[in-house]
Amino acid sequence: MSLLKAHDKGGEVPAGARHVAIIMDGNGRWAKKRHMPRALGHQRGVEAVRRTVKAARDMGLQALTLYAFSTENWSRPEDEVSALMGLMKRFIIADLDEFASNNVRLKIIGDYKAFAPDVVELIEGALARTAGNDGTTLVVALNYGSQDEIARAASAAASKGAITPESIAAELDTADLPPLDLLIRTSGEVRLSNFLLWQAAYAEMIFMDVLWPDFGPAHLAEALAEFTQRERRYGGR
Ligand code: FPP
Repeated sequence: MSLLKAHDKGGEVPAGARHVAIIMDGNGRWAKKRHMPRALGHQRGVEAVRRTVKAARDMGLQALTLYAFSTENWSRPEDEVSALMGLMKRFIIADLDEFASNNVRLKIIGDYKAFAPDVVELIEGALARTAGNDGTTLVVALNYGSQDEIARAASAAASKGAITPESIAAELDTADLPPLDLLIRTSGEVRLSNFLLWQAAYAEMIFMDVLWPDFGPAHLAEALAEFTQRERRYGGR
């Protein structure tokens, strides 16, 4: 019972998911299958992001966390990194009004300040503009690595006192979000790739065969339907 309470701050475990995270994988393979450049796969990936954010809002999710750029993604070829940055910028510019008018709060986890100054400026403008919204929180993981997040949280906890699971959890980038209920990875790969390792302790995981650019509301609904069928025991019986 204590673990369950630690996980869920003592509340009832909800039947439906409140917080869903997605490892958006398969953009490159989607493009390759069509003999298209990888950047086009990422571009179609942004359209899947749009559909999925809208579906998450419609379904009343409190938080949707998307793995958009990992600390390891810097090692991709320079033109791919710059294509991803360009897409990120265009996404914020094009979709910010939509977030603002639909009560979506934007949150970033990871060290986005390592990005170019114009990207940082755009992100900070978007964060400020949506800060007061209390509908769905769209959490975008940018320059994010889970081991780095845990190390930062542990050292912040240590500087304040005892290191305990609770004191570390309180310092994670996700501390203000509901517990992670469901983690989805697309493209058929079955690994966490340094994403939300701590938060996934009691999350359900669903690995789907669809490539990210083909993902949409029906896939999210299917994953949520499977989530509600699973019996979550949090280590109990
Ligand atoms: C994985 O596909 C995807 C990424 C590394 C980046 C995800 C980014 C987007 C969907 C676009 C930008 C996001 C936002 C929020 C605007 P991959 O390239 O690893 O595919 P592969 O494994 O098939 O090669």
